[in-house]
Amino acid sequence: MKKNILSDLSVLVSLCKQRGYIYQSSEIYGGLNSCWDYGPLGVNLKRNIKEAWWKAMTYREDVVGLDASILMHPKVWKASGHIDGFSDPLVDCKDCKNRFRLDHAILKENKNVCPKCESFSITESRQFNLMFKTNLGPVEDEGSQVYLRPETAQGIFVNFDNVQKSTRKKLPFGIAQIGKSFRNEITPGNFIFRTREFEQMEMQYFVTPKDDKKHFEFWKEQRINFCENLGIKKENLRFSQHGPKELAHYAKEAFDIEYKFPFGWQEIEGIHNRSDFDLKQHQKFSGKKLEYFDDTTQKKFLPFVIETAIGCDRLLLAILCDAYTEEIKILENGKEDKRVYLNLHHSLAPYKVAILPLSKKEELTTIAKKLQTDLSKKYHVEYDHSGSIGKRYRRQDEIGTPLCITVDFDSIDDSAITIRHLKTMEQKRIKLDQVMSYISDFLAK
Ligand code: GAP
Repeated sequence: MKKNILSDLSVLVSLCKQRGYIYQSSEIYGGLNSCWDYGPLGVNLKRNIKEAWWKAMTYREDVVGLDASILMHPKVWKASGHIDGFSDPLVDCKDCKNRFRLDHAILKENKNVCPKCESFSITESRQFNLMFKTNLGPVEDEGSQVYLRPETAQGIFVNFDNVQKSTRKKLPFGIAQIGKSFRNEITPGNFIFRTREFEQMEMQYFVTPKDDKKHFEFWKEQRINFCENLGIKKENLRFSQHGPKELAHYAKEAFDIEYKFPFGWQEIEGIHNRSDFDLKQHQKFSGKKLEYFDDTTQKKFLPFVIETAIGCDRLLLAILCDAYTEEIKILENGKEDKRVYLNLHHSLAPYKVAILPLSKKEELTTIAKKLQTDLSKKYHVEYDHSGSIGKRYRRQDEIGTPLCITVDFDSIDDSAITIRHLKTMEQKRIKLDQVMSYISDFLAK
């Protein structure tokens, strides 16, 4: 038995479409570049990922949640540095009209040339701001211009004082948020890895400045453990520290958690020590005091912030890549038999159980439908009665359903069914009245 891992993203893209994980946005109109829609399975997987993150981050005494609006006062982005600094240098090729990022130019005879047609005739670079603009209200003038947020973090900073006062939290404490962000990326790509509309899961942990290092180390550890607990293989995860040149303008120290995608090691999460940069900026631009009063020392100060920021879609892609498995068995006739399955952690699997009656006969359907009704009270359950049982198993394997239940003719006499496990293909005969406890014990592990 040989096991293959994913070597090419296109295999996953087509599985995602075929099985209902992810479709191209507006596909019947030819699609919209870099925009994707989550299908019936994708939306369940995404919700399960968000739930796992929400539990890990907010089921603790020292972290509370927030859901800030996407549109914010335009001054927020002046204060945060996004209006002046959130841009990429762009150049145009005068010959083939290709527009590209300066750092994507090719070097030829020590000069920058167009990466498409290799022409030397390219324009000077201009800064292109990555924020999407829109207008608030019916008048489209400068005064009504607002931005779609490029990160969720700023909604947390501007609410720091509200949250602290209303919850009476003492330092250290964190605010967590899940929500959409938008960046007009110049080079989106690699499926859902880099898109223009994506979801972030961010947490800002407010600390006394002298304790920043301790909390930074704590969250670094927590965050990589989170990825491992979701079932991502240890060997496909690593930390990468930002050197002085890579550090963002707000960061004092930063590490990325990287995943080994089929297209190379890439960031999935950033952990930053943002110091008091953001609170200081918002205090300055809003004119409102954002200091914290420490009642033991009787001193006021601006807390430092340790930020953990992960893209939900990007994490979902890492999870899918990691789960994709091809098992190849050599048959007696020498031919290869390939089984493709998604080895998803059962807490993430879109369907926990598939019920597969071996025949459409009423005696079996009655048992199967009763099981479906009972199990659906607790879990997402799939019911499939069409096609050969082999094909139905293969379908559930590709979906990543951890347990398949077959109802057969013996079930009528022995009041039992067979449960098949995704990973091992092991089969167990279980009495009908023990199915619920068997499944809940298995899924609790
Ligand atoms: N508040 C800090 C911040 O936003 P970031 O490194 O720019 O930091 C955090 O973004 C995470 O958001 C990234 O690690 C990545 O997972 C995700 N992300 C950023 N840009 C993205 C894009 N264009 N498409 C998908 N995910 C993106």
